[in-house]
Amino acid sequence: MVNKKGAFVSLEGCEGSGKSTQISLLKDYLNEKGTEFFFTREPGGTEISEDIRRIILNGAYTEMTDETEALLYAAARAQLIREKILPARKEGKIVLCDRYIDSSFAYQAFARGLGLDFVQSVNVVAMRDCIPDLTLFFDISPDEAFARKGGADKGDRLEQSGIDFHRRVYEGYLRLAVLYPERIVKIDARKTPEEVFRSVVNTLKDKKIIV
Ligand code: TYD
Repeated sequence: MVNKKGAFVSLEGCEGSGKSTQISLLKDYLNEKGTEFFFTREPGGTEISEDIRRIILNGAYTEMTDETEALLYAAARAQLIREKILPARKEGKIVLCDRYIDSSFAYQAFARGLGLDFVQSVNVVAMRDCIPDLTLFFDISPDEAFARKGGADKGDRLEQSGIDFHRRVYEGYLRLAVLYPERIVKIDARKTPEEVFRSVVNTLKDKKIIV
């Protein structure tokens, strides 16, 4: 079944939300159905954007300012949009993007404290009007995600960046869901992977993105 119309769907959530598991289930599901889609991730998805990703996530660059970080995410996004997302949309594909603008809002605007105006203005230039038709937000608090994993282990990312930071990210996502109720759908990610996936498929069907 080929979806002729195409659509742009972003997938968002805190670390430990089960987003990766759901993406993998969704890819298998769409492949089985013969639905054409293009999958990508942020930051990354093109050679240049993957290089930018390495700079952003390089733990040695402790002097990186929050503004630089936000600009680099936007630069990686600008490249991905023009090189990959817009062409795929033009071909009528369903575009699935693992993280997109709402990550910049939740992490840079809310958690880092840069504010929505700053992050929005940077991204207006980067994105033009390439806004997702639908954003699936895998809704589970970092505390619950952490508990579900059975607490801290050495090198755990939630532990590394500090639970308070991830709480602010989560609060940010909840505020975004209120600000953009037409676009952002909250998926209860506290349930079992099978139940969560059923909600994903039902939402995509409700929004007429898949049949
Ligand atoms: P990644 O390993 O891809 O995380 P995950 O598996 O949780 O998606 O790392 C991406 C990190 O970049 C993640 O911590 C979220 C962060 N990020 C931002 O802070 N702002 C952004 O705009 C994007 C796209 C990601």
